[in-house]
Amino acid sequence: MKVRVEQGDITRAAADAVVVNLFEGVTMPGGGTGAVDMALGGAISQVIAAGDLRGKAGELVTIHTLGRMPAPRVLVAGLGARDEFDIDAVRNLAANVVRALRKPGIRRIATIAHGAGIAGLDPEACAQAIAEGSILGGYQFLKHKSNAGDDRAEIEDVVIIEHDASKVAGMARAAERGSILAEATNIARDWANEPSNHLTPTVMAERAAELARQAGMEVEVLERADMERMGMGSLLSVAKGSAEPPKLIRLGYRGRGGEGWDLALVGKGITFDTGGISIKPAANMEAMKADMTGAANVITAAWALARLGAKLNVLAIAPCTENMPSGSATKPGDVVRAMNGRTIEVINTDAEGRLVLADAICWANELGAKRIVDVATLTGAVTTALGDVCYALMTNDDALCREVEAAAAAAGEKTWRLPMWKEYDEYIKSDVADCRNVGAGNRGAGTIVGAKFLEPFAGKTPWVHLDIAGVDNMSSDRGWVTKGASGYSVRALINLGLRLAQ
Ligand code: BES
Ligand code: ZN
Ligand code: ZN
Repeated sequence: MKVRVEQGDITRAAADAVVVNLFEGVTMPGGGTGAVDMALGGAISQVIAAGDLRGKAGELVTIHTLGRMPAPRVLVAGLGARDEFDIDAVRNLAANVVRALRKPGIRRIATIAHGAGIAGLDPEACAQAIAEGSILGGYQFLKHKSNAGDDRAEIEDVVIIEHDASKVAGMARAAERGSILAEATNIARDWANEPSNHLTPTVMAERAAELARQAGMEVEVLERADMERMGMGSLLSVAKGSAEPPKLIRLGYRGRGGEGWDLALVGKGITFDTGGISIKPAANMEAMKADMTGAANVITAAWALARLGAKLNVLAIAPCTENMPSGSATKPGDVVRAMNGRTIEVINTDAEGRLVLADAICWANELGAKRIVDVATLTGAVTTALGDVCYALMTNDDALCREVEAAAAAAGEKTWRLPMWKEYDEYIKSDVADCRNVGAGNRGAGTIVGAKFLEPFAGKTPWVHLDIAGVDNMSSDRGWVTKGASGYSVRALINLGLRLAQ
């Protein structure tokens, strides 16, 4: 799908559908909607008067134009109450519109810039949100369906029509930016939705290298022997049970130039999590094909920052492996040693994400990262705490945390900070090693314990940990979020890079 901005008159747009909007309670539409109403001889106001259109949020009403406009149909989208309307509503509306219009015969839609009229939002922000919402909302994962039929129908062009010529160039740049953010998210979704027999660590490394090539980024892939040489005993302890070779993927983009890395993005890349010897129950285990979302999100976010030409040096580090039970697998009670020398008693082999992240975070530090943000589907406990409404964030640095919170908010993603009080350090004390990989004595706080385990590997480097396990997979479409892999955190990470580059 391509999203463009053109100067013009919405009533003259040559498209398969024209999209306009209506606030709740408005009986005489103005702006672009008013112009279309006039072109249709008052059809929209008549539908309002008849009570078939109220402007409620989420409402979509189709009106056929019967030759009065070049486009055969007009879709009026409800904006809801004016005082509740914001840029997130624009993004979600664009996504709902694309899904409602997706059918054979509709290829090209023309829309007014929702929000930029009487709502008074910044026109460029609106153009970006429409691009993001359209591309994110149109996402489907059909590659393994032999007979997807009408589901394959795709909207190819979304044209935002702006009458004021002086605004067009800025809005076009914003739509281009939004398109890159959404495309990165859809690539991450594709990887997360891909079954583990199709997306092994080896395939992830190949796909990452292809993205790096496209965007002119550095790429390095460490093999098992490299990790052994570097002392990454924690990461390797997870890979031991699998027949698939682990890969530690590193992408680098030097947008600022010079030495050093302004930001390292580190993502958990478990291409399948059986739990290992501490094996998971069968019910819903298939969802664990997506336990590499953190890795996908950091790789695609760094790729987007490169495509946007952001002026910062950014690293993406993705430790990728399966977590399998076998005769060679790590056993509960085993003690392993991470790259920084810290020893870990592996109490539960299903708490494997923190084990792969530990060495990856050490490596980010060794490479000279000034800031580290890690992203992981780390704990089921985060769903107990926060459901599927937001993701958890934990940190050793208030200032960096505020940056991440602001970046996520700009992406329309809710976050919630959990405490890192020193009392929780008790939970991970081990009798035989420097720490244990799960909390002792059933004291709860599973999400915080995961972060507490990671904290010493970040050391003094400003660090934020995102636990996205609760929002990573969705059971139904909801605005910009589509069923299956949601893409949460990709645009937040890109926004973070853009903020730090300023
Ligand atoms: N990948 C899981 C966490 C997860 C659960 C992600 C559900 C998405 C949906 C992680 O590796 C795991 O198994 N965590 C354990 C930790 C426990 C053993 C301390 C968990 O949450 O049960
Ligand atoms: Zn696990
Ligand atoms: Zn896992």
